[in-house]
Amino acid sequence: MSITETTNVQANGALNPAKGPAFFSCWDIHGYYGESYIVQGVSFDIREGEIVALLGRNGAGKTSTLRTIARMSDPQLTHGEIWLDHKPLHEMSDFQAAQQGVGLVPEDRRIIPGLTVEENLQLAQIAEPRGWSIERLYDHFPRLAERRKQEGVTMSGGEQQMLAVARALARDVKLLLLDEPYEGLAPVIVREIEKILEEIKGLGLTTVIVEQNAIAALNLADRAIILDMGQVAFDGTAQEVLDNDDLRQEYLAI
Ligand SMILES: Nc1ncnc2c1ncn2[C@@H]1O[C@H](COP(=O)(O)OP(=O)(O)O)[C@@H](O)[C@H]1O
Ligand SMILES: [Mg+2]
Repeated sequence: MSITETTNVQANGALNPAKGPAFFSCWDIHGYYGESYIVQGVSFDIREGEIVALLGRNGAGKTSTLRTIARMSDPQLTHGEIWLDHKPLHEMSDFQAAQQGVGLVPEDRRIIPGLTVEENLQLAQIAEPRGWSIERLYDHFPRLAERRKQEGVTMSGGEQQMLAVARALARDVKLLLLDEPYEGLAPVIVREIEKILEEIKGLGLTTVIVEQNAIAALNLADRAIILDMGQVAFDGTAQEVLDNDDLRQEYLAI
């Protein structure tokens, strides 16, 4: 099947027409880094406002899947469909697809050196004037308000993670993709970020969270998708994974 053919295909049976079309859907996506075949036919869908934990062992393909969905140039999407809010991202150029509201917060957060907290946020707003205002962001992230004049990259890891999330909101993302937001953060800071993500959840933002700290991600998430060797090994509720020792041991080693 070609990359442009067909719509309305049931993604692994996960798409339930009775509940209406999914807000986000990827169907049989394949991604390559050069010759390396890494994303090997991944399908899932997400309803508006849902939080999905995307889990799996190190090297399972979580980051690669997020990058494929966000249409980063690598891995290169070679096959499959990606739909966001009725728009076919797979039919667009990488550049055009990147403007459709998928906000990837990468593991290294990419705070721009030489810019203050506020300048990092303003730059994001220039790209998308419909996004959250600076004042609204500061209401939700008081720590960033306190540090508005500080250079972003000189803040702590937790504060930089807050800035990375705030910057995505400033860009008015429709789908927030968080790659290991708790990585390298002290437990007390993890709880602070969790609180912010709970708040964002309350606002109805559709979110995918990739985390090594699977329990923390599952506690936040409605759904869980487990990847193994570039394919979906499980798709169900977060509670099912919390309740299933075998599943956790086999795919998450916890
Ligand atoms: N830039 C790259 N080029 C080639 N292979 C890569 C690249 N990045 C990741 N991989 C490979 O893709 C596989 C999945 O990696 P990744 O998506 O980073 O996994 P995860 O995020 O689940 O730990 C691994 O085997 C990894 O070595
Ligand atoms: Mg990763």
